[in-house]
Amino acid sequence: MAVDLLLGLQWGDEGKGKIVDVLTKNYDIIARFQGGPNAGHTLEFDGIKHVLHTIPSGIFHEEAINVVGNGVVIDPVIFRKELANLSQFEIDIKSRLLISRKAHLILPTHRLLDAASETAKGKAKIGSTLKGIGPTYMDKTGRNGLRVGDLELSNWKDKYRALADKHEAMIHFYNVDIQYNLQELEAEFFSAIETLKKLTFIDSEEYLFQAQKEGKGILAEGAQGSLLDIDFGTYPYVTSSNTTAAGACTGLGVAPNQIGKVYGIFKAYTTRVGSGPFPTELFDEDGATMGRVGNEFGATTGRPRRCGWLDLVALKYAVQINGVTHLMMMKSDVLSGFETIKVCTAYHYQGKKISHLPYNIEASNVTPIYTELKGWEQDLTKMNSEDQLPKTLMDYIEFLEEALEVPIQIVSVGPDRTQTIHRELAVS
Ligand code: GDP
Ligand code: IMO
Ligand code: MG
Repeated sequence: MAVDLLLGLQWGDEGKGKIVDVLTKNYDIIARFQGGPNAGHTLEFDGIKHVLHTIPSGIFHEEAINVVGNGVVIDPVIFRKELANLSQFEIDIKSRLLISRKAHLILPTHRLLDAASETAKGKAKIGSTLKGIGPTYMDKTGRNGLRVGDLELSNWKDKYRALADKHEAMIHFYNVDIQYNLQELEAEFFSAIETLKKLTFIDSEEYLFQAQKEGKGILAEGAQGSLLDIDFGTYPYVTSSNTTAAGACTGLGVAPNQIGKVYGIFKAYTTRVGSGPFPTELFDEDGATMGRVGNEFGATTGRPRRCGWLDLVALKYAVQINGVTHLMMMKSDVLSGFETIKVCTAYHYQGKKISHLPYNIEASNVTPIYTELKGWEQDLTKMNSEDQLPKTLMDYIEFLEEALEVPIQIVSVGPDRTQTIHRELAVS
C-alpha cells in the first residue's frame, strides 16, 4: 500500500488539520513527519474547536493510529498541554499515539536561543513562533541533539546538562536582554518528560514499513507550507525543516517509490504570518476583509495573518516541487461578496514579465500581474454539493485547474468537518 501525503502549498495555515480530520476515515495511520509546535492545526466538529500542535490530526478517530515521526521536534511541555486538552475525550493515548524514538526534543534553552537570535536580528527577524524550532534542528544537523529514545537510557540527564550548558553560553554570546529563570524552566521540563515517558515509543520507520506490508493505509500529515521549506521556501524567512514531499520520506523513513497520492492544500487567497516577501499582499480594504471574514489570526501565536490574493506563480511552483496529484481549495466561503477576484498569474521583475519564482524574491522587486475574474455573492457555508456552487466560483475553480494542471478534489466552505464539498473527478 502506498503512503499518501497531505501538504500545505502556501505559507502554512491552509487548513491541513481540518482536511486530515476529514480524510482520516480512509486511513489506518496518520503520521506527522516534520516541524514541531510551531504548527497549529485546527479541527472543528460538533460545535467544538481543537488546536493541535504536535499530535497528528487523526487523533479524534477511534480507529486511527497516530504516529509522531522521526522528523518532528517535540517540546515535552507543550506536548503535555496538548494531552491535557484531549483528556476529556477518553482517547486511549497509550495505544493510539506512538512516538518515534528518533524524534528530537526541544529543550527550554532551545526556546531561549530562538528568542535571543530573533532579538539580535532586530528588524531582520524571521518572525519565528519562538518555539525553539530553529535551534533544535540546528542541534540535530550539528549532531548534538537529544532524542526521545535517549530517555530510555540511564545517562540522558548528563546529555541534557551538557547541551543546556552549551546553550547558556551561547545565549550570553548573543548579548541581548533575555530574562529567564532556568531552574523553573527545567523543573517544568523534567516533570513534562515524566509524562512523555508514559507514552509508547517506537522505531517508527520499522512500524510503518510493517504496516505498509500488511496493506494498511497511511496518510502523512505535513506542517507549515511549501513556501516555508528550508530549501525551497522564501529563504531565510522560512522554517527549519523540509515541509515539501521529500520531507515525508526523510521524516518517516518511507522510500520515494512508496509515495502514492500527494494532496496539496491551498486557500482560495493567500496568507502569511511572520516576516518575509509576499508579492500579492494587500494593504487595503480587500486585505482587511479577508482577514476579518477569514478570522486570520495564528492558531499558535494569535498574531494577525497578512492577507492577499492568490499567487498562481508561487502555487504552481509548490505543485511542481511536491508532485501534487490532487488539490484542495480551502476557505472559498471567505471570498463571497467580492465583486472581482484577482489572481496573480505572472510577475514584473527587473523589467521583464516572468512566470516563475526568482531567486531574489523581495517584496520590493516583484510586482504581481493580475487576471481578474467575476466574484460571487452567495453564502457558501451551507452548501454541500458541487451543483449548488455559484457559476462564477466554478469558473474560478476551472481557471485554477487549467493553470495548475491538477484537479481540485475538495472545495472547503467553512471550518467545520461537514462544510466540505467532495467533487466527482475523472481521476480517483
Ligand atoms: P493548518 O495549520 O493548515 O491546519 O490551518 P490552521 O488551523 O492554522 O488555520 C486554518 C483556519 O481556517 C482554522 O481556523 C480553520 O478552522 C479555518 N478553516 C479551515 N477551512 C476553512 C474554510 O473552508 N472556511 C473557513 N471560513 N475557515 C476554514
Ligand atoms: P502550520 O502547520 C504558518 C512561520 C513563522 C515564521 C517562520 C519561522 O500551522 O501551517 P519557526 O517558528 O518555524 O522558526 O518560524 O515560519 N511558521 C508558520 N506559519 N503556519 C505554520 O504552521 C507555521 N510554522 C512556522 O510564522 O514566519
Ligand atoms: Mg496553522
